[in-house]
Amino acid sequence: MELLDLLGVAANAAVIDVGGGASTLVDRLLDRGFSDVTVLDQSPAALNISQQRVGEGRPVAWIVHELLSWAPERRYDLWHDRAVLHFLAGAEIDTYLMLLDRALATDGAIILGAFAPDGPQECSGLTTRRYAAGELALLLGARFEVVAQRRELHHTPGGVVQSFTWIAARRKN
Ligand SMILES: C[S@@+](CC[C@H](N)C(=O)[O-])C[C@H]1O[C@@H](n2cnc3c(N)ncnc32)[C@H](O)[C@@H]1O
Repeated sequence: MELLDLLGVAANAAVIDVGGGASTLVDRLLDRGFSDVTVLDQSPAALNISQQRVGEGRPVAWIVHELLSWAPERRYDLWHDRAVLHFLAGAEIDTYLMLLDRALATDGAIILGAFAPDGPQECSGLTTRRYAAGELALLLGARFEVVAQRRELHHTPGGVVQSFTWIAARRKN
């Protein structure tokens, strides 16, 4: 939420949380008056948890779809990804970036959270890639202006500490 404020994302912005799963980010956005929120996840079970929690009649589009094979039908002002990109490798990352290019408004912004260089090397049985803030900026390329970067020590419900890198960037064209 701090990075959202730094980017100056207004409540009328269209926000997508990719791999949002059961995250409470959607609740926080709705509490702040956001009126156009999309949560995409390949797991119907994870999305169902969020849907049940948030309730019906809220301005949220729930999309059950695998991200890399998803064809966005509109553009979003903010792309939020916490802990999806770090599961991707090689050509999958290229596809992710092409998708971001298609789905993000030309003056849109992105908030990315991924495991840091001293973060876990795997999660949920899957190998993860770890990123310093400079590497995330490099991935986004020259068309994005980095607004802020953060390091976060996330304490999981199971008592494990995971080191995250966060980056907030604005698209330049
Ligand atoms: C580690 S969880 C993070 C959930 C949420 N972003 C958070 O911060 O609490 C990763 C989520 O991304 C989803 N996910 C992973 N890879 C995905 C993909 N290729 N397409 C769609 N969802 C994906 C998983 O189902 C899961 O809900």
